[in-house]
Amino acid sequence: MSTERLFSLKNPWFVYSVVGVAAIALIAGLIGFVWVPYRQGNQTIAGLWDAICRAAGVPVATQGENDRGGKVVRASEVIVTPQMLSSDSLSIGRGATLAMRCTMCHGARGMSGADTPNLAGQYSEAIYKQLRDFKSGHRKSELMAPHVRDLSDQDMRDLSAYYAYLPRVAPPPDLAEQMKAPAIVQVGSPMRNIAPCVSCHGGSDYKNTSPLLEGASASYIREQLQAFANGTRSNDIHGQMRNIARQMTPEEIETVARYYSRR
Ligand code: HEC
Ligand code: HEC
Repeated sequence: MSTERLFSLKNPWFVYSVVGVAAIALIAGLIGFVWVPYRQGNQTIAGLWDAICRAAGVPVATQGENDRGGKVVRASEVIVTPQMLSSDSLSIGRGATLAMRCTMCHGARGMSGADTPNLAGQYSEAIYKQLRDFKSGHRKSELMAPHVRDLSDQDMRDLSAYYAYLPRVAPPPDLAEQMKAPAIVQVGSPMRNIAPCVSCHGGSDYKNTSPLLEGASASYIREQLQAFANGTRSNDIHGQMRNIARQMTPEEIETVARYYSRR
């Protein structure tokens, strides 16, 4: 048996194994912390340090979403809080006057006979956010754009207060009726990461800026879901609707369009 010490730099096997282990650790580190983060196409990596921070899970102050090719695209500029809009009678009155120019498409009292969205009884912050997004171009519509161009922030607040105040023809269903809603509406599809529609759009729960869907025309709902799915509409913050719509089958889109339009 050799009397040579095992853990000694004079033992070539010891040196080879130490160098070998160090090399494996270095290569693994480079793959995990540098190569993989750089290869993720949907990320903007500012540099080596940024790549390492992301791989290590250090929270990075994200400036926006949907980063593409190093360009940060924001879904919207609106930060919505429940207290942001007042609903005093003065604001409603001013909104009613301003709304004269909207009646030809959205109906005399906010209920459109055509496939234009109904605004009566819609949540005021949902209306306000959409108006601001049309104005800033975050939501594109050739029909809406000319009508928001000249609106001031106060005008948009007044219009939102007015339309929210008008009675909605189709109020949210009561609990008994809700139990009969299609599965995608009530429970979503957890395997495909689809949260139940009622968890945001009213019903069991309501999240800021999610519009009421009850009574919307089937074709409007269908079009919006298709637009979210193919990215032509991308003003939903954190992509919450785009992520859902992309996962929905055409049959599911048809089902929810019929359910919400009550057809
Ligand atoms: C020429 C017709 C037309 C006029 C006039 C018009 N709108 Fe619209 N509006 C539309 C259409 C069409 C849409 C749906 C756009 C889409 O498909 O993305 C829409 C969408 C909206 C939405 C988004 C609704 C939702 O549920 O997301 C709001 C809010 C809105 N309009 C408010 C107004 C207000 C306020 C005015 C008046 C200042 C107005 N509109 C004038 C046609 C019009
Ligand atoms: C995580 C919350 C959330 C869930 C779950 C959710 N939505 Fe939405 N949805 C939103 C938000 C927020 C908006 C408004 C996006 C924006 O700011 O423009 C929206 C907008 C929409 C619109 C456009 C409405 C309009 O008036 O323009 C439709 C249609 C819609 N959702 C359908 C659905 C359906 C169908 C489901 C269930 C399969 C669903 N949503 C589930 C949050 C949600």
